[in-house]
Amino acid sequence: MNYQDEFNQSLQNPQSFWGQQAQALHWFRQPDEILSQDKDGLYRWFKGGMLNTAYLALDFHVENGRGDQVALYYDSPVTQSKKQYTYRQMRDEVAKIAGGLKAQGVQKGDTIIIYMPMIPQAVMTMLACARLGAIHSVVFGGFAPHELALRIDDARPKAIVTASSGIEVDKIIPYKPMVDQALQMAEHQPEKVVIYNRGLGALLPTQAYDLDFNTMVAEAESVGCTPVEATDPLYILYTSGTTGKPKGVVRDNGGHAVALHYSMGHVYDVKPGDTFWAASDIGWVVGHSYIVYAPLIYGASTVLFEGKPVRTPNASTFWRVIEEYKVRAMFTAPTALRAIRKEDPDGAFIKAHDLSSLKYQFLAGERCDVATLQWAQKHLKVPVIDHWWQTESGWPMLANLMGIQALPVKPGSVTKPVPGYNLQILNANGTPAEANQEGFVAVKLPLPPGCLPNLWGNTARFKEGYLSRFPGYYFSGDGGFKDAEDYVYITGRVDDIINVAGHRLSTAEMEEVVASHPAVAECAVVGAHCDLKGQVPLAMVVLGNTTRPAHEIGAEIIKLVRQEIGPVASLKKVLWVKRLPKTRSGKTLRKLLRALADGKPVTVPSTIDDPNIIDEIKETIQPTLNQAN
Ligand code: COA
Ligand code: AMP
Repeated sequence: MNYQDEFNQSLQNPQSFWGQQAQALHWFRQPDEILSQDKDGLYRWFKGGMLNTAYLALDFHVENGRGDQVALYYDSPVTQSKKQYTYRQMRDEVAKIAGGLKAQGVQKGDTIIIYMPMIPQAVMTMLACARLGAIHSVVFGGFAPHELALRIDDARPKAIVTASSGIEVDKIIPYKPMVDQALQMAEHQPEKVVIYNRGLGALLPTQAYDLDFNTMVAEAESVGCTPVEATDPLYILYTSGTTGKPKGVVRDNGGHAVALHYSMGHVYDVKPGDTFWAASDIGWVVGHSYIVYAPLIYGASTVLFEGKPVRTPNASTFWRVIEEYKVRAMFTAPTALRAIRKEDPDGAFIKAHDLSSLKYQFLAGERCDVATLQWAQKHLKVPVIDHWWQTESGWPMLANLMGIQALPVKPGSVTKPVPGYNLQILNANGTPAEANQEGFVAVKLPLPPGCLPNLWGNTARFKEGYLSRFPGYYFSGDGGFKDAEDYVYITGRVDDIINVAGHRLSTAEMEEVVASHPAVAECAVVGAHCDLKGQVPLAMVVLGNTTRPAHEIGAEIIKLVRQEIGPVASLKKVLWVKRLPKTRSGKTLRKLLRALADGKPVTVPSTIDDPNIIDEIKETIQPTLNQAN
């Protein structure tokens, strides 16, 4: 197969291209239309088709000879336990959990929030929702109760499924009490909170709404798969936007299944029966797509890893997992490799393992620095593929497609658009940028199947946030350029989103929290370069009228962000500035602050009210940046 031919076909006739890909799946009823537009003018794939994502991921394989194949390897160095489930066992467990939820009144179209650590019951609960046609919304465990409450009020779940606790390296994180706190803050109240008790000693406060997971399942009848429309939502996944309120990215059933199935063979070069491992968390899109849905829909075996790249117990863990489960293709964030490289610069742990099964190392989630890419190439001795995508797309947008044609790797580039994505680099006025000229990364509509059709309950925000900047295009929020050979390079977000250790966070949201401290007169939060995490947030604060020592206020601000957003926000630095750079009309010059925090050369905007401020801020930032690294 040739990349260019496949790509051209996908754009010349998207309906025939994706209609053919859809035939790889089992439909209860074939779609009436491959591509259509809804009443709001938004594109929809496979209208009229009926299917069930959990059926495709489990039952289909059991009925077609994969019942005894391992579907999921659970590997948990933090609890020193391992377990594996065949497709048949997974289907049976999921059917019971679905039955339990059904007995609680959960029906097709209801929403369920899942706030759970990386345990098999979390994956099974996602699939149980899919089985019922209920819509799950998984919330990442590193988010604090306040963030959970925001999602509860937006998704309005019928039930929340949680666990007694998670474990971060050696620290027990009590999940259930965080759910109780979130429910005190939220206006919406679900009928039930279902708790999987891990028996790790965390306290389990008993509320009227509590229900034990195992009791619910023990009393349940197994239920079958509810047929849903291809255009019905499978899940909502909240992601950081440019305001304080997260955006509920909606994923449909049909387009999602077709796109993920296509990606396993074409992007990742995996065959049914192989083991695929995405070392991410089910709270992020990578976890949804490549721990749970894609490998299972494709008939591969997936790995659910409850640990870290280092410290559980050391930097050899990843290589042990690859050897043990004969992983063919692995996916992680560059930050994980940077953490490993720091501990094991010469790759001694890599050499100590038999990695003969590993054919590819895929990286995404944040920019990959060339040194890390080259370190991985040198030690792993397999193609190291940096590829680019987002929560919104749900599957790769730019990649070197290993299952179609391996193009030469250019370090720093995420290679070329994946079939289906008419990706362009646009100038600010919407015209295509020249080769090597930086612009805005946008995709000409329609987006291919699998990408978000809308935001949950907020069509206006969807249109405003993604479709209005460049009419006829989806705007990604990233900047980038193409070289003369059409290889794409991503230069980073052009908005207020930062990427900390592969975790996507909103600086606007952090600003709201910092500004809520009574001693703060004004503030700005921007991302600063960090050698390990890629970026870390840096708060620049103008103090109000206070006589309290600044270090006390700084510690309170850091604590507040941790309490309100969660530990994952990783705000560790507060800088005191006399004032913030502003335009003459009073708007904070964030782009300038971002460049200063990254130690990049700055262009002084003509609109600035006082150019002297730049040197003042540079002097304040410099020592901090040296310390951060
Ligand atoms: N539940 C509760 N807390 C969590 C959590 C979770 N699921 N995930 C992270 N946290 C906490 C951590 O314990 C840490 O808390 P602390 O400040 O009390 O130590 C904080 O959030 C920051 O976590 P993190 O950014 O992960 O830093 P770290 O120092 O613990 O680990 C790395 C650094 C590089 C090892 C780690 O970030 C990593 O593995 N990154 C890969 C991320 C990834 O896979 N992203 C998915 C995109 S593909
Ligand atoms: P998320 O929605 O959490 O997956 O984050 C998506 C964002 O992460 C993108 O918009 C990019 O800013 C960034 N990102 C993801 N993959 C890459 C990559 N390979 N290179 C550079 N940035 C990336």
